[in-house]
Amino acid sequence: MFLLASMIATLCVCSQRVAAMDGTNSPTAETPAERDARMVWWREAKFGMFIHWGVYSVPAGFYAGKPVGGIGEWIMSDAKIPKAEYRQFASKFNPLKFDADAWVKTASAAGMKYIVITSKHHDGFAMFNTQASPWNIVQATPYGKDPLKALAKACRKYGVKLGFYYSQAQDWNNGGSACAGKWDKAQEHSMDDYIDQVAVPQVKEILSNYGEFPAVLWWDTPCDMNRQRAQKLYAVVKQIRPGIIMNNRLGGGFKGDTETPEQTVPPRGFPGRDWESCMTMNDTWGYKSNDNNWKSAATIIRNLCDIASKGGNYLLNVGPTSEGLMPQPSLDRLAAVGRWMQVNHEAIYGTTATPFGDELGAAVKAKDGYGNDTLVSSASDWRCTVKPGEIYLIIFNWPAGGKCALPVLKTKVLKATLLAEPDAAITVAQSVSSLTLALPAQAPDAVASVVRLDLADQIVKIQKIK
Ligand code: GLC
Repeated sequence: MFLLASMIATLCVCSQRVAAMDGTNSPTAETPAERDARMVWWREAKFGMFIHWGVYSVPAGFYAGKPVGGIGEWIMSDAKIPKAEYRQFASKFNPLKFDADAWVKTASAAGMKYIVITSKHHDGFAMFNTQASPWNIVQATPYGKDPLKALAKACRKYGVKLGFYYSQAQDWNNGGSACAGKWDKAQEHSMDDYIDQVAVPQVKEILSNYGEFPAVLWWDTPCDMNRQRAQKLYAVVKQIRPGIIMNNRLGGGFKGDTETPEQTVPPRGFPGRDWESCMTMNDTWGYKSNDNNWKSAATIIRNLCDIASKGGNYLLNVGPTSEGLMPQPSLDRLAAVGRWMQVNHEAIYGTTATPFGDELGAAVKAKDGYGNDTLVSSASDWRCTVKPGEIYLIIFNWPAGGKCALPVLKTKVLKATLLAEPDAAITVAQSVSSLTLALPAQAPDAVASVVRLDLADQIVKIQKIK
C-alpha cells in the first residue's frame, strides 16, 4: 500500500517535470520552478554585450592586400587561407591595449548586465589557456596571457555576468567540422577525435577555470554534430556546471534554454521560450577595418525596446581590434544607449512582453543579415513592456500635440509619468471604450520616450482590439 502510494507520488512529481536543457525527460529534467530559478538573472538582465575577439582581428578583413567579403571572423574560410599561413597571424596578435576593466565598465555604462565573449571561434584559436591545443593566445602569441581571466576578474568587480561562446563543431585548425567545406589537406582529421581531444577537454577548461563564470555557454553552428558528439559535451556541462544557461545551438537535438535569432527581431518573439536576438552594430562580428556601415544609436535603442516588448534579450556585438581596443564608433553608440538607459532603464530590466500582441509592430517580410527571408517587425509608433502593476509605453514617434490614444485597458490607470520629465503633468482620460493621454506637446527624447502607467491591479487586462 505504502509502496503504491509512494509510486503514485513519484509519478506525480515526474509529470510536473519538464524537458530539461536537453529537451528530454532524462533524470536531469527540472521542474518549471527550478527552471525559473535558473533563468531569473538572465530574464531580469535583458541587455548583454557580445564580444567577437580572436586572431582574425589581425587580418581585419584583408588577405594578400585585398579586402575579403563576408564577416571578419570567417576570413580563413572565405579566403581559403591555408592553415599554416593563417597561423602566422597569431605572431602579430599582441593586444597590449586590452583593458578588461575598461571593457566591463563600457558594457555596464551602456546598461548591459552580461557579456558573452568568444572563447574559441570557428578558426579554432583559443582565447584562453588550454592544454588541449597549442593554438591558443597564451602559447601562440607574443601577448602570452589569458584575457578571459582578466575579464572574469573585472566582471566580478563590477557585478556583470560573464558567459563564453564556444564553437564546438566548426574548428578549421584542430580537425573539427567546416560548414562551408575544407580547403586545405592539413585540415583532414577525424571529427570524433577532435571532439574527444579538443572540444571536450576545452569545454571542461572553460567551465572550470574562471570561478563562478561562465554564467552562459553559447554554442554555435552545429554542423556535423550528431547526438553522440553533442551528448559528450552536454555531459561535461551537466557534470561541472548544471546551473549554466546554454543556447539552442549545441546540435544533436538538444534544445537548450534560449532561442537565438540572429540579426532579426521575431515579430511575435518565441512565446513559451526564452530568447535572445544577437546583432552586430555594423555588418561584421569580428573586427574588419573597412566595415563602416554602422547602425545609428537610434536604431540600436529602438531595437532594444522592440526586443524587450516581445519578451526577449538583446545581445549586441562589439568586435575589438588586435590591439585590444573597442572601435570608437561602437563606443560612441554604447555611450548613447547608456545615456538613454540612465533615464529609461526601468522600462527594460525585469520586464515582460507587451500585453497588446500583434497590433504593435506587425510582421513584415524582410531579409536577415545573411540575405535570407525572415519576418521582422514593421516600424510602428510605439512599443510596450510590462511589470506587475505597471505598463511602460515606449513612444518612438511622438503623437501630434501630445495627444496619445492607446488600446483600451480594463485595468484602471492610476497615474502616468514621463520618465524623462517626471514632473510633467499628464492627464489620463479612461473610459470603457477609450484611453487617451494628454502628454507634453514635444517629445522629451527624439528616439524613444517612456511613459509609465501605474495600474490599480497587478495584472493588466486589455480590451481586445482588432
Ligand atoms: C554565425 C557565424 C558566426 C557568429 C555567429 C553569431 O553563426 O557563424 O561567425 O559568431 O553567427 O551569432
